[in-house]
Amino acid sequence: MSAAVKYPEEFAGFAVLDTKDWNKPKYITFKPKKLDDHDIDIEIECCGLCGSDIMTAMGGEGWGEIKLPQIVGHEIIGKVVHVGPKVTHHKVGDRVGLGAQAFSCLSCRRCEDDNEQYCNKSVTTYDGTYADGYVSQGGYASHVRAHEHFCFPIPKEIKSSEAASLCCAGLTVFSPLKRYIPTDLPKGETPKVAILGLGGLGHLAVQISAALGADTYVFSRTDSKKEHALKLGAKGFVATGTEKDWAEKYYDQFDLVLNCAISLSGVNLGGFLSILKVQGRFVSVGLPSAEEKYDVAPITFFSNGSSLCSSNLGSRKEMLELLDLCVKHDIRPWVEEVPISEEGCNKALTKAWEGDVRYRFVFTEFDKAFGTGKK
Ligand SMILES: NC(=O)c1ccc[n+]([C@@H]2O[C@H](COP(=O)([O-])OP(=O)(O)OC[C@H]3O[C@@H](n4cnc5c(N)ncnc54)[C@H](OP(=O)(O)O)[C@@H]3O)[C@@H](O)[C@H]2O)c1
Ligand SMILES: [Zn+2]
Ligand SMILES: [Zn+2]
Repeated sequence: MSAAVKYPEEFAGFAVLDTKDWNKPKYITFKPKKLDDHDIDIEIECCGLCGSDIMTAMGGEGWGEIKLPQIVGHEIIGKVVHVGPKVTHHKVGDRVGLGAQAFSCLSCRRCEDDNEQYCNKSVTTYDGTYADGYVSQGGYASHVRAHEHFCFPIPKEIKSSEAASLCCAGLTVFSPLKRYIPTDLPKGETPKVAILGLGGLGHLAVQISAALGADTYVFSRTDSKKEHALKLGAKGFVATGTEKDWAEKYYDQFDLVLNCAISLSGVNLGGFLSILKVQGRFVSVGLPSAEEKYDVAPITFFSNGSSLCSSNLGSRKEMLELLDLCVKHDIRPWVEEVPISEEGCNKALTKAWEGDVRYRFVFTEFDKAFGTGKK
């Protein structure tokens, strides 16, 4: 337990100080960014642990150099405690969520077309740089300040520790599923989706894909998660490590493969492209370390005209749609709650990297760690 944070002059959080110690964040205090007209301050109640937190915290062993000290965490739920002078979406006291993006210009073509996640002025919730040079800090913290557009009202039906992971993991898989599950198949045909990798993103993808009406199959490396996959709504389950002939068995069956794996090392990409129907898509939301490369020859695509692409987060419009869908279809992440502290961060980051979580860690008890939650 640390002394109460001196908000609003100061925020506090658990920061990576050296990427060699990526799983040992330490308590620090820091100055918030300047309050812009559309910014709101969130007093954080809980925050999910995303695979991206690990990839970022690892620095050169993950996605590359980061600015230190760095507080990761971008599946944030909390209470609005202050609003900038031009804020219209939220008021003090509201419960809101913030995902992996904290800012964009909102006036370029991409922003106007509900593709603000691809705006070239986009600033990520942590390790992003604002126009004035301020480096953003994430949600393993007492507070976060972000543009109101990227903060979402949370429906009363969803409790905070379950809402957290919808803000990054949920939105990230909802966007490509919504955009790419075909709705114009010949009469009577149900779209068929393969979810590759059953982790934090994958277990939400299964529920969302099924709710969107697709026959959903899980492709996992072993059969240890089979029972869970079926409980989450999967129609079929394939253990790629043991079912050696899976690529032949499922040849020409899927409209979409959504890759949610954190590494490509165990992935037979050629096999996954071959199970696609003509012009099917392999969409990667999984983003492995910078060292990893796709190993695929252009001629591979000649057999079915398939496409290989990535998808980054999602838009505010999609987030609001996702929250509605989750309420209507009872979609919830399966979470393991961990009180936030140096020890809690260390334990959860280490276990998540080892794949020892079913299926999302969510840090809680921020009031105890930061002396917040008084009013
Ligand atoms: N595109 C975006 O906007 C966006 C947003 C958020 C996260 N991400 C990225 O999405 C990825 C997944 O994040 P997460 O939080 O869901 O991670 P996670 O909970 O650790 O799940 C990753 C899953 O990947 C599979 N996997 C692990 N090691 C593997 C290997 N060596 N080869 C093949 N598969 C392996 C495992 O599934 P099985 O055990 O079933 O095989 C594991 O459950 C990360 O790369 C993260 O950075 C991207
Ligand atoms: Zn994330
Ligand atoms: Zn823009």
